[in-house]
Amino acid sequence: MKINKNIVLVGMMGAGKSSIGYLLAKKLKFKHCDIDKVIENKTKMKIVQIFKEKGESYFRNLEEKSALQVLNKNNHIISLGGGGFLNENIREEIKKKSISIWLDWKHKTLINRINLNKKKRPIALNLTNNKIRDLIIKRSKIYSKANYKINCENKDKDLLTKEIIQIYENI
Ligand code: S3P
Repeated sequence: MKINKNIVLVGMMGAGKSSIGYLLAKKLKFKHCDIDKVIENKTKMKIVQIFKEKGESYFRNLEEKSALQVLNKNNHIISLGGGGFLNENIREEIKKKSISIWLDWKHKTLINRINLNKKKRPIALNLTNNKIRDLIIKRSKIYSKANYKINCENKDKDLLTKEIIQIYENI
C-alpha cells in the first residue's frame, strides 16, 4: 500500500466529490482538502460570487494555485472542483504523488443532481439539460484519464467510500 499518496476525487458537479472526500478522510485519518472551499476561504467570497464579480479565469487561476499547493503534500484527500481535472498542469501534478479517482454516474442522474443546486453552480446556471449533457460528454473524455473510475449509480456513500479505500489499499 502506497500509504503516502494523496487521493484526488474528480468528476462532474454533483458527483459527490466533497461529501465522499470528507468521509474518506475521516475513515483513513487523512486531511481533507476541498479546493472550492480553499478558494472561498482565501477570497472570502462564495464561488458563484467569484465567477460573477471576478470572472472565470480569475477563479481558474486560484483553482490551479490551490490544487498545485496541496498536491505537493502527502496523505490528503483532495476534492477537486468539476473543472479542476481539465487543467493539464493539475493533471500532471497529480501523477507525481497522488492517485485520481473519477466518480462516474449516469448522465441523467448527474443532470438531476446538478439541477438540485443550480444557483450555486455558475457553470450550469444558464444551461439547459441538453447543454449539461453535452458538457458531461465532453468532460468525460478528460475524466476518463483518471487512474480509476467508480460507477456510483445505486451505491450509498459508505459503499463508495469502501470501494475507494479498497482501491487505495491495493495500489
Ligand atoms: C465547476 C465546478 C464547481 C466549482 C465551480 C466550477 C466546474 O465545483 O469548482 O463552480 O467547472 O465544473 P463542484 O464540482 O464541486 O460543484
